[in-house]
Amino acid sequence: MENKQIAISQFGDPDVLVTQVSPIPEPLVGEVVVKVHFSGVNPIDVKTRAGLGWAASENKDNLPWVPGYDISGEIISVGSQAERFNIGDKVAGFIGFPLQGGGYSQYLSVSESALSLVPSAITLEAAAALPLAGQTALQALDKAGVKEGMRVLILAGSGGVGHIAIQVAIAAKAEVFTTCSEANLDYMATLGAHAVNYKFSPVSERVEEADVLIDLVGGDAALDALNCLKDGGTVVTVPTLSAELICEKAKLLGFNATGMLVDPNPEQLDALLYMVSVGLVKTEIQHIYPLDQVAEAHKQIETGHTRGKILLDMQC
Ligand SMILES: NC(=O)c1ccc[n+]([C@@H]2O[C@H](COP(=O)([O-])OP(=O)(O)OC[C@H]3O[C@@H](n4cnc5c(N)ncnc54)[C@H](OP(=O)(O)O)[C@@H]3O)[C@@H](O)[C@H]2O)c1
Repeated sequence: MENKQIAISQFGDPDVLVTQVSPIPEPLVGEVVVKVHFSGVNPIDVKTRAGLGWAASENKDNLPWVPGYDISGEIISVGSQAERFNIGDKVAGFIGFPLQGGGYSQYLSVSESALSLVPSAITLEAAAALPLAGQTALQALDKAGVKEGMRVLILAGSGGVGHIAIQVAIAAKAEVFTTCSEANLDYMATLGAHAVNYKFSPVSERVEEADVLIDLVGGDAALDALNCLKDGGTVVTVPTLSAELICEKAKLLGFNATGMLVDPNPEQLDALLYMVSVGLVKTEIQHIYPLDQVAEAHKQIETGHTRGKILLDMQC
């Protein structure tokens, strides 16, 4: 048996992604080997492949480098002192973030403490959609102190992070406003959010008196959305590139503002899996690409218009 991995051979276009073959790893102490069924594709993978951002600069002398942070699959071997799981258990995890990566692998040895058990009611597809995006959503809402009765504006509600953030905020009994293009208006309504078509009018003309802005777009869209906040409102801006600018402007206007870097937390993944199992959150998966079509998956993310998540099927 071989272990196919997708690696970034050099920084550049999607065709720098190559397949490499390595042995199936043996578990180290406290580790388990996961046969990865699905690997999530995130915008950070695409940015790193293009040579942008911290993970790229830290790994520039380390190519070929295997990206990927979201995995779901089943345990095929258990190392010494690894006691949480048994062979055959279905698991998911947010692994190797941000510098190690490795998720675009058919087999991976990881610390058992990085993994969550996937309940039988949840598909491995849904489980792979949750780790990075779901934890970003939870941590952004948490930083903003979202609670019952608040008016919460979430920019890009139809994306990987946004569609989960909307559902968690609604479950917390917040009133949620969001932005999307025409194609996603109905989808946003089915999640319970008031949706504004950002191509039709700036959100500042349509939403007012928001307590919280969760910015998943950055740049001019975020600057415009600051006008939707009430006095003393709170901003969490998630895209790292424009975070400094947006926080500076928000603070000048008297708002509380912060950027964030998601922090892997298996207990939060447990909570997300629970929310999916009881129907509070439904993952949206736009497309699952076979691993040899990873370049197409990256091109889709690069459109900036993915609804929900994109996954790689690592076993076909
Ligand atoms: N700091 C961190 O730790 C962290 C963690 C996770 C993600 N991020 C960043 O957060 C951002 C969102 O991540 P993601 O995974 O949700 O991205 P994504 O899934 O690629 O987002 C795609 C969505 O963005 C929407 N969109 C595009 N332009 C828009 C605009 N001007 N206004 C409103 N919606 C717009 C699209 O909706 P339409 O098709 O309807 O236009 C699409 O559904 C990315 O920049 C990502 O790198 C940062």
